[in-house]
Amino acid sequence: MEKKYYLFEDSAELAAQLAVDFNNAVAQKAASGEVLTVALSGGHTPKAFFEILAEPPYREGISWNIVHFFWGDERCVPPDNDESNYKMTNLALLSHIDIPASNIHRVLGEDPPTNEALRYAKVIEENVSSANVFPQFDWIFLGMGDDGHTASLFPGASNLKEMEKICVVAEHPQTGQKRVSLTFPVINNAKRVSFLVAGAAKEPVFKEILEKGTSEALPYPASMVDPENGVLEWYLDKAAAPEL
Ligand code: 6PG
Repeated sequence: MEKKYYLFEDSAELAAQLAVDFNNAVAQKAASGEVLTVALSGGHTPKAFFEILAEPPYREGISWNIVHFFWGDERCVPPDNDESNYKMTNLALLSHIDIPASNIHRVLGEDPPTNEALRYAKVIEENVSSANVFPQFDWIFLGMGDDGHTASLFPGASNLKEMEKICVVAEHPQTGQKRVSLTFPVINNAKRVSFLVAGAAKEPVFKEILEKGTSEALPYPASMVDPENGVLEWYLDKAAAPEL
């Protein structure tokens, strides 16, 4: 696994460079006549990135027809709920670009979680090419919680050990909110995994992960992300990684 760290002055600079990198990735796929399968992260960090893509030159410049958006995790709430990762992405990006509706594969947060985890796994199997027995996303974006969770894989959860399913039902440890999340076999099968981590609150956990590397010895799910056949990237601002 190749690991790369990109350090930026602040989250705005991080988002700007990520938009450049995303544009390049789509252009490469367009040149070879392929699609780009992307699993998006939720939370707040990706919003600035999405908003840049919703503006010129990217709004019209990117070949959105070859981009297929999925979510690495979603809260089990309706799509118009303020907690919905889809709602945030739709407001910041999807409603501004000319992308076929059939390219947007949202988790149906309004449906019963167990049924939806099964349905969504089938959607992924049908729309993402497989390698090593699992669907292989071209690019998975991840955030990291202050507790070291990623997607909706939380410290100490039994689903950290899930090695067969594509999606699981997860539960937020504080709020009890149900989520649908990708599992590690899928995350670690991706060609490219990029963490987007900004803000001082992430510094303590990132420092430990930087020092100890990808390891199950750490209590942090983010430290278990290890795309053995792909590239792991950390897009960081200085507040999250003053040591770097
Ligand atoms: C979610 C996310 C989650 C998020 C981290 C970081 O649904 O909440 O996918 O894994 O990426 O909690 O969130 P922030 O970007 O808001 O710090």
